[in-house]
Amino acid sequence: MTDSGTAGSNKPRGLILYYSGSGNTRLACRYMAANIDSIDFELFNMVGGRIPDLRDCAIVGFAVFTDFLAPPQLVKTYLENFPLQQDKPAFVFNTYGFINGKTLKILADWVGARGFKVVAGHSLHTPESYPPMVAGGHGNKQAPNEKELKAFKRFVDDLETACKRISLNQEVGKGKIPVGWLYSVLPTFSRTRSRNDMGIKYVDAELCKECHTCEKLCPYKAIKLDPKPIFDMDKCYGCWSCFNHCPNKAIYTKKFRGRGHYPKPIDALKEKLAV
Ligand SMILES: Cc1cc2nc3c(=O)[nH]c(=O)nc-3n(C[C@H](O)[C@H](O)[C@H](O)COP(=O)(O)O)c2cc1C
Repeated sequence: MTDSGTAGSNKPRGLILYYSGSGNTRLACRYMAANIDSIDFELFNMVGGRIPDLRDCAIVGFAVFTDFLAPPQLVKTYLENFPLQQDKPAFVFNTYGFINGKTLKILADWVGARGFKVVAGHSLHTPESYPPMVAGGHGNKQAPNEKELKAFKRFVDDLETACKRISLNQEVGKGKIPVGWLYSVLPTFSRTRSRNDMGIKYVDAELCKECHTCEKLCPYKAIKLDPKPIFDMDKCYGCWSCFNHCPNKAIYTKKFRGRGHYPKPIDALKEKLAV
């Protein structure tokens, strides 16, 4: 899929910066971009660390998936390297498969710390991409349910209202980023928690066809082929990208082998977020 925008449009420009391990978040971003009319949104992938030029950008979205109850390490590093802004409007968004934790609030704090004014935020329940949950029969393939989907669409409508004001150079105030009371008392895990939880990765030498997919898709550049994949555990953050995306299911861990993969959004989610 290519990142989209309407070439040659006269509308103000917006960017949605996203990190999507398996495509759920990206699908939701495409839905938002397609359903907001007053701003011409393009999608921009945070993986790789490139920083876009925001000079003619009226509003910036930051969209991530929940990784151990918070935004992934990649997003933390990305934002730490982001140039300081002066109140540029932004919105935050995340998808989660089971328990959102404080993901959205933490993301809003990180984005706010770079000088953005966070005007809106929303979390969308989607199917699980975390292999231990999928393998355990908790794939949450029904997510989002009707109520959750409606709430997401209401958010997109509210965002459109804010974008319209921004496109007319009208003031938009800081938005309230909701955190449920239960989530507010949950612990914040270290960003290395997922790495420790995933543990050592193994390669089935017969199944591995040395296709380099794991190496190319590793967002942390933690894999080199020689000739089979070798994992640098200091760089790995346990995102399961190599496990999920290996076309031959050759990568496995101590507990999970040949089951629990979530390489791309399931059809039911694609239908719900069709543009
Ligand atoms: C390493 C990892 C950790 C995850 N941790 C959580 C979590 O703590 N809570 C949760 O609700 N979902 C968790 N998930 C599930 C994803 O947040 C969810 O499925 C999301 O929609 C995936 O989005 P993506 O397809 O854009 O990567 C995790 C997924 C991965 C791969």
